Amino acid sequence: MSGHAAIKTVTIDPVDAPFALTLHDVAPDKSISHRAAMFALLSDHPSRIRNFLLGEDTLNTLRIVEQLGATVVRDDGEITVVPPETLREPDDVLDCGNAGTGMRLFCGLLSGIEGSFVLTGDRYLRGRPMNRVVAPLRSVGARIDGRESGNLAPLHIRGGSLKAFVYESPINSAQVKSALILAALRGSGVSRYRELSLSRDHTERMLRGMGADIRTAEDGWIEIVPMAAPLEPLDIAIPADPSSGFFFAVAAAIVPGSEVTIRNVSLNPARIEAYRILEQMGARLEYIEYESRYEPVGDIHIAYAGKLQAVEVSENIAWLIDELPALAIAMAVAEGRSTVRNAAELRVKESDRIASVLQGLNQVGIETEEFPDGYAVIGGSMHAATVDSYGDHRVAMSFSVAGLMCGMEVSDTACVDTSFPNFYSLLGQITKVHL
Ligand code: S3P
Repeated sequence: MSGHAAIKTVTIDPVDAPFALTLHDVAPDKSISHRAAMFALLSDHPSRIRNFLLGEDTLNTLRIVEQLGATVVRDDGEITVVPPETLREPDDVLDCGNAGTGMRLFCGLLSGIEGSFVLTGDRYLRGRPMNRVVAPLRSVGARIDGRESGNLAPLHIRGGSLKAFVYESPINSAQVKSALILAALRGSGVSRYRELSLSRDHTERMLRGMGADIRTAEDGWIEIVPMAAPLEPLDIAIPADPSSGFFFAVAAAIVPGSEVTIRNVSLNPARIEAYRILEQMGARLEYIEYESRYEPVGDIHIAYAGKLQAVEVSENIAWLIDELPALAIAMAVAEGRSTVRNAAELRVKESDRIASVLQGLNQVGIETEEFPDGYAVIGGSMHAATVDSYGDHRVAMSFSVAGLMCGMEVSDTACVDTSFPNFYSLLGQITKVHL
């Protein structure tokens, strides 16, 4: 495994008392951190990024930004990205590590830049489908090749001029949308993009904040006008990641008498749908917005309010796709049979999350049913087991939270560093964690 330092097994003790926590230091948002580092390259002035996620995935992106000629100045929690006058053709491969977002967005960004670029990643990323960005990018003139006719990394991009396009995406993916928007910024005319239902929109918000002419119409069509000149630099404080915070939301919702406040977190509606589901299951939720710059930001308070009830999840899947593993733990202790449908995308995440989550649930004594596009979870009572993360950070953290109820050993947890390096230290405020 190239990215993660070592395979680590972690043991979590069951909680012996309710907890009340205020979390000021949930990991900064991964999606926004990737984009902030990359988009800084679209300006000719330095971008200031406070609270950049120092996780493996986003540090890989930052390293690639440097390989492309930027200078990165680090000062504690703040980084400044000084873009080069023109992007440099790197003299080595660009390693995205475990990050699908990194690889797919760089495909879009680099396709329109003169030069030769090779994108690679760890063994998990090299097995994930890239055709979803490669095919539409090729159709607008990008020259990309790779294993399996360009579906698998390493990918070789020979950047050059791109055409304007009109593209209706068959999948709701912010990564695909972002790759195409980045390509459109270098296109020969105005491009239009639409997805079936809105995926997370950080790219549109941030690029608009940098002065790009990107308009989203009522009917969902996004119009992208190519950049006539470099964009304004970013000046951004990255909020906490709602997907990371969600592990603690589930913890509070399942441990009787507990509550947690996640401070300074993105309240972007396309990111907090899983919290709404938790509310539907019976937890008590409060959202306090206090700022809106590129994104609405505030606190989320979650409190236990009785045994959770089963829920059916089949809509707005793109808005909660990353939270489904943790939500499966809430479903496992809920009263009744919960279902997740229309979520076939789970199969091509950092692991096949339908397989890895169900495998773990079965090991802890929870009955499940598997569908091609989701699963059913029959609520019951979990028991301690040794669960494999399959190298997937969100699976590792979900079963660690399950450990609060019954104790757990989770193996292969080094992957947690990709998105939430201080996860176990925060979990250690609730129970004993043996690293
Ligand atoms: C992300 C988009 C989502 C999400 C991933 C991050 C992003 O993937 O699962 O963790 O930053 O754009 P898809 O857009 O492929 O659904």
